[in-house]
Amino acid sequence: MTSLIQTLQLIANPTQFLDQSAAKYGDTFTMRVLGINSPPVVFFSHPQAISECFAIPAQKLDFKKATHVFKPLFGANSIVLQEGTQHNRQRTLLMPPFHGDRMKSYGKIICEITNNVTKDWRPGKVVSMQHIMPEITLQIILQVVFGISPGQRYQKLKQLLSTLLDDITTPWYSSLFFFPPLQKDLGTWSPWGKYLKRKQEIDNLIYAEISDKRLAKDESLTDILSLLMSARDQDGQAMSDEELKDQLISLLLLGYETTAGVLQWLFYLIHSHPNVKGKILNELGSFEKLEPDEITKLPYLTAVCQETMRLHPIALICTPRMTKESVEINGIKYISGTVLVPCIYLAHHRSETYQEPENFNPERFLARKYSATEYLPFGGGYRGCIGSAFSMYEMKLVLVAILSQFELELVDKCPVKPVRRGITIVPSSGVLMKIKNHQP
Ligand code: HEM
Repeated sequence: MTSLIQTLQLIANPTQFLDQSAAKYGDTFTMRVLGINSPPVVFFSHPQAISECFAIPAQKLDFKKATHVFKPLFGANSIVLQEGTQHNRQRTLLMPPFHGDRMKSYGKIICEITNNVTKDWRPGKVVSMQHIMPEITLQIILQVVFGISPGQRYQKLKQLLSTLLDDITTPWYSSLFFFPPLQKDLGTWSPWGKYLKRKQEIDNLIYAEISDKRLAKDESLTDILSLLMSARDQDGQAMSDEELKDQLISLLLLGYETTAGVLQWLFYLIHSHPNVKGKILNELGSFEKLEPDEITKLPYLTAVCQETMRLHPIALICTPRMTKESVEINGIKYISGTVLVPCIYLAHHRSETYQEPENFNPERFLARKYSATEYLPFGGGYRGCIGSAFSMYEMKLVLVAILSQFELELVDKCPVKPVRRGITIVPSSGVLMKIKNHQP
């Protein structure tokens, strides 16, 4: 019974459940999540415990037990479902396109897409950041990851992906993933049949894109698909088409709603803290014209993005890991079969680490540096997010492209709550904003 209540609380109101549990039990607590065999699930928020969790060698952990639910979505070859050497191999292939100079070449596209989506905004118009931000970030990921220019295939893929994501974030659809017996293809009128049909259409479009790129053999292309097609692992092996397709769908689905969620929080927090907005505009105004690269290095803007993800981390937890043998964390032994969960949300809300943790205070990130286990919006260790640098880069450019042209105000001044949307935690209101002024 307790496990049923705890599971329902965790699903219905995850942040409240975590806050209440931490207030009652402290930095480490165990719950039972309803499911087969119901193994003990231990949440950690102390930086030392999180650091010890990240340091556990991969061969002592089973990630698949927690990530297998994503198999029908991402595909069996997805990085999310790999372990050990195969996981290492895929990370080595996937990381370079998201870092360093390669990433910087995407700055221009990011600004162009944002300007294009907002080109019809005029004073008096009301826009919903819940709708606009995924529209912008999906276009960015399609052009940056696939290198597809707007056209028929691009439009079709955009429409299918956004419908797929809308569907799978509804409670009914998401339960299909957690209960395999419900995964019955009874034709396109049945929920699972409909899902499979849509997924197949997406897969076909991705295969068509891969095939076109193979035929074109254009070595000057810098999109991530082209880079992945030419990448070789240490044994000289390239990715197969199926592997490429599974990675691409994973990058698409993990990479656009997440950044869109942070952007919604950014617009909400900046506009409910006029002093913060003033400081960002001051920082921008002190330069004549800024290149994308310079924008992304602005210290106050960076602190605002960091503080937004501290207060409202899009992912509340890191990938859960089940122990295959007993391990010790902070001097306590956990037997084989225990699920360990480094908890991002609680680590970010510890009053020992952050003074007045419920306050939105970007200055804290200018005053001191937090360690990788005190501040971890992108998780950490060998399973940490591979898109972290890219999404930081992207969110700053999208934000500045809009703030430097439009004066916006929140339509509804009431405080919003964090609510679950699929695997992300976003503002409850949809963040409706009115355009007050426009300086193109
Ligand atoms: C603000 C945006 C984002 C947030 C907050 C975020 C957060 C996370 C978190 C918390 C994890 C789990 C890390 C762990 O268990 O330690 C993760 C994993 C991952 N993320 Fe992100 N992410 C974001 C954007 C992206 C983007 C843009 C991409 C790629 C296009 C991406 C691709 C991935 C992948 C592939 C993994 C799995 C890594 C692995 O299993 O080795 N994410 N992300």
